[in-house]
Amino acid sequence: MLKKNIILAGFMGTGKSTLGRLLAEKLDYHFIDTDSLIEDRIGQTIAELFQEQGEAAFRKLEESLAQELAQQQGLVISTGGGLVLNPNNVDALTQSGQIICLTATPVEILERVSTQKQIRPLLLEKDPLSKIKELLEQRLPVYSQFQQLSTTGKDPHELVTQLIELTCEA
Ligand code: S3P
Repeated sequence: MLKKNIILAGFMGTGKSTLGRLLAEKLDYHFIDTDSLIEDRIGQTIAELFQEQGEAAFRKLEESLAQELAQQQGLVISTGGGLVLNPNNVDALTQSGQIICLTATPVEILERVSTQKQIRPLLLEKDPLSKIKELLEQRLPVYSQFQQLSTTGKDPHELVTQLIELTCEA
């Protein structure tokens, strides 16, 4: 049976990696986190890459990975928050499966990213909450084209059930 990919998009700290891993386990799909895979391949963290080569270098790696993953099946793909800003990535991934966009409130996003060890170079600002709001506003037209699932204040297992319902409906 064809197992189309399930792609989790959305802003940083919306739960893509946590839910992606749980969803893949539940469906017996292979789990891919695009940021982690890029880090493994280049032997550097995303933050180091941003610092040494700039954001554009990261976006190129993201694009070639999106094209590569779009050729495969049976994947749950948790994307970096900016991956779907590139229409080439969206086109390729849409052909391979279904994109669902996770959302959360700016305050919850800040709480989550502040407690994670992963450094988000785009949020290294004096006032990260304002930066989150600003980026969310900029990205809204892109994120809002996908089916949305709010993760604020919800239990991950309940969310996985909702994700399965959303992917079965499609
Ligand atoms: C980014 C999100 C990050 C990472 C990079 C850029 C973004 O991934 O790809 O720091 O542009 O939103 P997460 O969404 O997993 O934090």
